[in-house]
Amino acid sequence: RPAHAPHRPDHDLVVVANRLPVDSRTLPDGATEWVTSPGGLVTAMESVMKGVDSGAWVGWAGAPGDAPDPFEADGMSLYPVALDQEDIERYYEGFSNGTLWPLYHDVIVEPAFHRTWWDSYVSANRRFARAAAAVASRTSTIWVHDYQLQLVPRMIRDDRADVRIGFFNHIPFPPVELFSQLPKRNQILRGLLGADLIGFQRESDTQNFLAAVRKLLGHHVDGQTISVPGLGAAPMREVTAQTFPISIDSASVSALTEDPEVREHAAQLRRDLGNPRKVVVGVDRLDYTKGIRHRLKAWGELLNDGSIDPHDTVMIQVATPSRERVEAYRQLRDEVELTVGRINGDHASIGRAAVSYQHRSFDRRYMTALYMAADVVLVTALRDGMNLVAKEYVASRPDLQGVLVLSEFAGAADELRAAVMVNPHDIDELKAAILRSLAMPEEEQQESMRSLRHQVMENDVQSWAHDFLERLEQSDDPHGEAKPV
Ligand code: ADP
Ligand code: F6P
Repeated sequence: RPAHAPHRPDHDLVVVANRLPVDSRTLPDGATEWVTSPGGLVTAMESVMKGVDSGAWVGWAGAPGDAPDPFEADGMSLYPVALDQEDIERYYEGFSNGTLWPLYHDVIVEPAFHRTWWDSYVSANRRFARAAAAVASRTSTIWVHDYQLQLVPRMIRDDRADVRIGFFNHIPFPPVELFSQLPKRNQILRGLLGADLIGFQRESDTQNFLAAVRKLLGHHVDGQTISVPGLGAAPMREVTAQTFPISIDSASVSALTEDPEVREHAAQLRRDLGNPRKVVVGVDRLDYTKGIRHRLKAWGELLNDGSIDPHDTVMIQVATPSRERVEAYRQLRDEVELTVGRINGDHASIGRAAVSYQHRSFDRRYMTALYMAADVVLVTALRDGMNLVAKEYVASRPDLQGVLVLSEFAGAADELRAAVMVNPHDIDELKAAILRSLAMPEEEQQESMRSLRHQVMENDVQSWAHDFLERLEQSDDPHGEAKPV
């Protein structure tokens, strides 16, 4: 991390997200270390911002207390926003991850709501909005990301009517019947409608949002266009809601598979596992939306009933630590670790696990090697906005080998039709899908992987960002003049 601060706080593209692309960690000697932040948002937007001149990223640096000074990284200017311990408890762990996250993911666990959480959500959103408005140029585009910052578009508009504002929701948007349960639901909708363009992962998310705007606010909706009454004497504004399925830097991931070191690492991984006939892999943040419990249940039953022989088939489960102070996440970790322990107790032999479990983060090269070593990858989310792991696996298989088992409840299911589709709630169906994948003939694997690769290589994160920003450019010009493209 270079020590100097950016000298020109007037950026043409300003990304605002809860997290910066890097998290600060304090080492035992008091020094600060910067590590890649968890999650798909960072994976995607980091690649996008590498190709942008004069880009800024406003977000939290991942630790409580004062914000570090702005700094430059990878040609981007990073502007940290401070969150103190109370903000973290109420805005981040509370309203964002205790209320919105479960509500927007089909109420897999029960959402909680406290008015103090809401107050903190409002004040934290205001802090992010002010920080973004302060570094945007007169012709800037401000691109706000995800459910933690749904009030930010409107807050920026109140401050900076001269900029274009886009919002992208990385997670599902719930059906209006569920969304209606949210206290402060209309404030959330009005916050989002401060944007010129609101993007969603799946068409069903866009339609859910449009239905909520129509039913709860009574706004006129024509196709994707919402007519939003202006404040006071201000005229009607048009806001667009549209589907933009996010992706990955497909070419970079694919290119990594050519790296001799990564290839050797993949081969070494299989050797370390004792050269099993088949390797099955799961990669997830340790989140209850990811269906890890269902997957382990299916795996345990397949071992118990003798359908899988632990001497020739191994499962690796990589689970990134996530939101560890939120009760539902603590419980999930306990349950997952108990189940892995039980399965290994029943089926592992000395030097060979039945489930190899790793609860930590790895670098990109390791992740690619892992995908290259995997005969089957299990993406069994109970609900997921997109799921980039599914796309990363496909991009890592130019050899056209390997099978992707994909939940129909992950956003990726709309595009990756050639995967082995499952309803992860149905344990018998999940077991059958795993067995089918393990037995799939090479030719069938190639046919499926060719079709999946076509989809992932053609639709990468660069074209996703380009499509979103181009559509945003087409919205009403805040200066009343044509903007150079
Ligand atoms: P989410 O955004 O909910 O975490 P995604 O599947 O969309 O889910 O994105 C997860 C991202 O995090 C992917 O880019 C994946 O490679 C990465 N990732 C997941 N687990 C790890 C890990 N243990 N170490 C490093 N990266 C990880
Ligand atoms: O993509 C979903 C998402 O929630 C992002 O908003 C977030 O950055 C990421 O997953 C990881 O979660 P967190 O920031 O809470 O660790």
